[in-house]
Amino acid sequence: TQLSFDEQPDFPTIEAAREAARTCRRCQLWRDATQTVFGEGPEHAAVVFVGEQPGDQEDLAGRPFVGPAGHVFDDVLEEADIDRAKTYVTNAVKHFKFEPRGKRRLHMKPNAGEIQACRWWLDAELSLTRPKLVVALGATAAQALLGKAVAVTKLRGSVVERDDGLRVFVTIHPSFILRIPEEIDKQAERRRFLADMRAVGKLM
Ligand code: URA
Repeated sequence: TQLSFDEQPDFPTIEAAREAARTCRRCQLWRDATQTVFGEGPEHAAVVFVGEQPGDQEDLAGRPFVGPAGHVFDDVLEEADIDRAKTYVTNAVKHFKFEPRGKRRLHMKPNAGEIQACRWWLDAELSLTRPKLVVALGATAAQALLGKAVAVTKLRGSVVERDDGLRVFVTIHPSFILRIPEEIDKQAERRRFLADMRAVGKLM
């Protein structure tokens, strides 16, 4: 599905955008989520990381990548010598989408309409940060950033330049590593992700 661009949001600062996003009703996901999880990091970060959407812990904390996937992300960034505090970290979709299952809340993939609705915020973040490089962590982020569904396995490790000149580095989502059952395969996939992050470090 091809996503269309709508009118460019215009906020003076990330803080102003974050404040406005608190009461976002651009799609229905706000109804069940605890809060909007906006991006965080310096306003003019050289690199912006984009995930899919907040998970259970992010929804409760109000901050991106603080749960299990965030721990993998933090560890690999540290090993790649990238200081997360100097980067801007956000998600394609800013509310947690889930299915209640007993006491747990199971993550559900955002659909194209939700990605499209939330792209307004992602565009605002990108036009304010103006990074040298954006990193798409997984298929949802790649779809949000490139405007169409792409094959992450084919593009991973490469930079795609958008029509507006923004350079998008495509890689997997760190939660993919968590889901691999075999320890040997898990470590191999983690090394590939680390290699991608080292490549990002050289490009930023
Ligand atoms: N997964 C994501 O895509 N983003 C988060 O913030 C946490 C988990």
